[in-house]
Amino acid sequence: MEPGWTIREIPPGEREPFLPLLILADPDETVVRKYWEEGSMWALFVKGVPVCEALVIPGEGDACELKNLATRERDWGRGYARALLGYVFKACSAYWKTMYVGTSDSGRAFYSGFGFISSHVVKNFFIDNYAEPIMENGVRCIDMFYLRKELD
Ligand SMILES: CC(C)(COP(=O)(O)OP(=O)(O)OC[C@H]1O[C@@H](n2cnc3c(N)ncnc32)[C@H](O)[C@@H]1OP(=O)(O)O)[C@@H](O)C(=O)NCCC(=O)NCCS
Repeated sequence: MEPGWTIREIPPGEREPFLPLLILADPDETVVRKYWEEGSMWALFVKGVPVCEALVIPGEGDACELKNLATRERDWGRGYARALLGYVFKACSAYWKTMYVGTSDSGRAFYSGFGFISSHVVKNFFIDNYAEPIMENGVRCIDMFYLRKELD
C-alpha cells in the first residue's frame, strides 16, 4: 500500500464520481443506481484519489449487507480492500450485529478470507435481476451465494 492513504465516509449525493468503481463490482449501472444512495459508503483515497470503495445497506433486524466492494483494477492485490473492510467492519459494528454479503460462486473464496461463512443461496438471482448475462472468468453467474459475518 502507498503511504498516506485515508478513509472517508461518502454521503449520499456525493457518490456520482465513484460510479466507475461501483461498476467494477456490479456491471449493470441501472441496478447500481437502485441501491447506491441507500445506506453508508466509505472510500479509501491515495493522495486524494479514490482507489477502493465499500457500500453497506441496512438489512433485516440487526443485520446489514455489504452491497458493493471494489478496488481500482491497477491497485488490486495491494491490501486496499482489506484495509477498507477492516475499517467498515468496525464502523458497522456500532449499529449492526451481522453483515451479509451476496456474491457469485467465484467470490466466495475472497469473503471467506474475511471471516464470512455460508448463509443461504438465492437461486437464479443473476438471471432474474439483470438484463444482460453477468459473466465472471468466462462463466455465467446464475445463483447468488449469501455469506454472513458476526461483527464484534
Ligand atoms: C475483490 C477486490 C475488491 C479485492 O480488492 P483488493 O484491494 O485487490 O484486495 P486486497 O489486496 O485487500 O486483498 C485482500 C485479500 O483477498 C485476497 N484475494 C484477492 N482477490 C481474491 C480472489 N479473487 N479470491 C480469493 N482471494 C482473493 C488477497 O490475496 C488478500 O488476502 P491476504 O490479505 O490474506 O493476503 C478487487 O479484486 C475488485 O475490485 N474486484 C472487482 C470487483 C468485485 O468483484 N467485487 C466483489 C468482490 S467478490
